[in-house]
Amino acid sequence: MAKDQELVDRLDRAKLPQHVAIIMDGNGRWAKAKGLPRVAGHRAGVKKVREVVRTSQEIGIKILTLYAFSRENWKRPRREVDVLMRLLQEFLRRECPNMNKNGVKLRAIGRLKELPAGVQRVLENTIKSTMDNKGLLLNLALNYGGRSEIVDAVRDLIKDVQKGVRKVEEVDEETFQEYLYTAGLPDPDLLIRTSGEYRISNFLLYQLSYSEIWVTPVYWPDFGRELFLEALFDYQKRERRFGGV
Ligand code: FPP
Repeated sequence: MAKDQELVDRLDRAKLPQHVAIIMDGNGRWAKAKGLPRVAGHRAGVKKVREVVRTSQEIGIKILTLYAFSRENWKRPRREVDVLMRLLQEFLRRECPNMNKNGVKLRAIGRLKELPAGVQRVLENTIKSTMDNKGLLLNLALNYGGRSEIVDAVRDLIKDVQKGVRKVEEVDEETFQEYLYTAGLPDPDLLIRTSGEYRISNFLLYQLSYSEIWVTPVYWPDFGRELFLEALFDYQKRERRFGGV
């Protein structure tokens, strides 16, 4: 722990990513490697969600976006989907008091209306209960797809043009961003992906344009504070040019 604190102190505060996004992959493979059912991997994954939220809070990261459930994930066996939804509900219910204690504000992105009613309810309650908190913004991507986000944005934008709220000529990148689920949030500075795949997997397609990407072969349930710090140190070594020189 002492060595760990030294590591945190060595981070360059001026170069901290404001927004970190994570693709938490490898729960299933972690479980399989241990001869356990896939859902055991998800259960172990929730613990790491807590650890990474705590660490982000402590370090002073402003926004943490976690890919918790994609639109494609509905294709999994019914039982696995049910367990994931239950874990999510439990996580929100259990963590709500902690979020309030630690100033964490919850937000969610995705087609939330298609989530089971129970999940929607606890999500709405937690978002409402934490809305005035000023610390870390924990942004959960749920029933999320990057392409559907863009389609939904286009639909809403067209509706506004039809209503006369917007003029076609005034639509630019800045106005378009206001129609994305992430409206008002800066783009992720750093994308972390666990379990070694070099893919975006339909995550934040519009927002990741200039994000730094860090991939570890480690499965999500084995990810934690130490590797998170490693990713942050690596990020601080990068030179970001945003297409300039
Ligand atoms: C990927 O592992 C992980 C997921 C599809 C879900 C991530 C969910 C959690 C960590 C738990 C619930 C989340 C919260 C916020 C409480 P995988 O199953 O695709 O692994 P595999 O690629 O090895 O099969």
